[in-house]
Amino acid sequence: MLATISELAPRIPPDFLIGTATSAWQIEGSSQIRGRSIWEDFAAIPGNIRDGAQADPACDHINRWETDLDLLAWLGVDSYRFSVSWPRVIPGGIGKVDQAGLEFYDRLIDGLLLRNIEPVVTIYHWDLPSALEAKGGWLWDGIADSMAQYTEVLAEKFADRVSMWATLNEPWCSAFLGYADKFMAPGKGDPASGFEAAYRLLVGHAKSVEVLRHHHAKEVGVVLNLTTFIGEDEQAEVAAQHMDGIMNRLWLDPLAGRGFPLDVIEKTRHITDWSFVNDAELNSIAAPIDWLGINYYNPQRIVSASEGGALGVGNGQRLDAFPGTPPISFAPRGPLTEMGWEMDPASLITTLTKTQERLPNVPLYITENGGAFPDPMVNGAIDDQDRVNYYASHIDAALTARESGVDLRGYFAWSLLDNLEWAEGWTKRFGLFHVDNVTQKRTAKTSAHFFRELIARRRKV
Ligand code: FCB
Repeated sequence: MLATISELAPRIPPDFLIGTATSAWQIEGSSQIRGRSIWEDFAAIPGNIRDGAQADPACDHINRWETDLDLLAWLGVDSYRFSVSWPRVIPGGIGKVDQAGLEFYDRLIDGLLLRNIEPVVTIYHWDLPSALEAKGGWLWDGIADSMAQYTEVLAEKFADRVSMWATLNEPWCSAFLGYADKFMAPGKGDPASGFEAAYRLLVGHAKSVEVLRHHHAKEVGVVLNLTTFIGEDEQAEVAAQHMDGIMNRLWLDPLAGRGFPLDVIEKTRHITDWSFVNDAELNSIAAPIDWLGINYYNPQRIVSASEGGALGVGNGQRLDAFPGTPPISFAPRGPLTEMGWEMDPASLITTLTKTQERLPNVPLYITENGGAFPDPMVNGAIDDQDRVNYYASHIDAALTARESGVDLRGYFAWSLLDNLEWAEGWTKRFGLFHVDNVTQKRTAKTSAHFFRELIARRRKV
């Protein structure tokens, strides 16, 4: 049975942080007044973005940020997770800071504080400056130092006002969808590069943490996309173990000080020799963090190839993104979201529990969770019951995990607004607020009302 607001609200403790999340490239627009990013380069190639959408106008958030902050205040959220555009702050990736770009985030942060909303900043959410990609991007051995310099600029200006910092968002996507596969920017399609990029992203994280610590930044963490792999038969279970290695353990093990998982190293020796790993850097990756963010949407259910699943049916369900995996098919069970993703709140519980075991003593947050649905507009309204159900069932699961001992401290809905869903462009909508991408009008969906009421009715003491 689906939990109602009356059942969920009393289970939410007063100090459990509730928020919504967005990212710079997906909402900001105004790309001409900043440096170029790998996502403009990627979007310029026909076929890469499903509907041919480009970085502009997105949600025109650069000009409409105050209206958008008012939406957050109307929802009553405690916090707002957004990302800073690296090329807006340092157009060339390294070197000169664009003060006007930096000032935008200064106003945004003050605007949040004015409304009593805690700023949660993601330093890198995929929009690498093109100038850095020209040097090799996340394969360049100077990339982590560039990330440190960029972090320095942000920390110096904002450390006194930001409540929580995430160094990276979903580095698995950057490394494996962007470098191993061609599904996301920069679209390399070279399996070996996926592992090297993964490593350099982690080193970038480590250097960024060092800088944040130096500035006494509050609550320093990182955001990973973690999930549960379900192998439906014996052969698929073997594959599931390897895929779990690449998506979950490749990140959690080094963060926990265990180095890279040996089974993954063994199974990928024919792809890479791992010679890019250096012990001192590996140690630095294990420096303590204050929290870990988990972005969870769906489990990955797989069957052996002979069973014949729906190969590549959904976003992220591509074997190229899991180099070294024996042949399998993705076999999500319906009903699916518009992304082709299986809805399975029980897997959120397993993911949280497993993650807590793998990285003990680190408080967890769900930093993204939500669904894309068709959202027809009828008489100017969007009654997105399917999204309400998605949220209700996943918040229920999150609270269950918490009640059974997982140190879960908060939940962020993806997303505040319908926005540019990367390679899917405008074809997939995740917002609590509908955005008309021509008029830019924002309309609260039923799910926004659900959230508002849930927040208003949660425990006060
Ligand atoms: C995550 C991304 C986020 C958004 C959601 C749907 O992988 O972090 O930007 O695109 O998926």
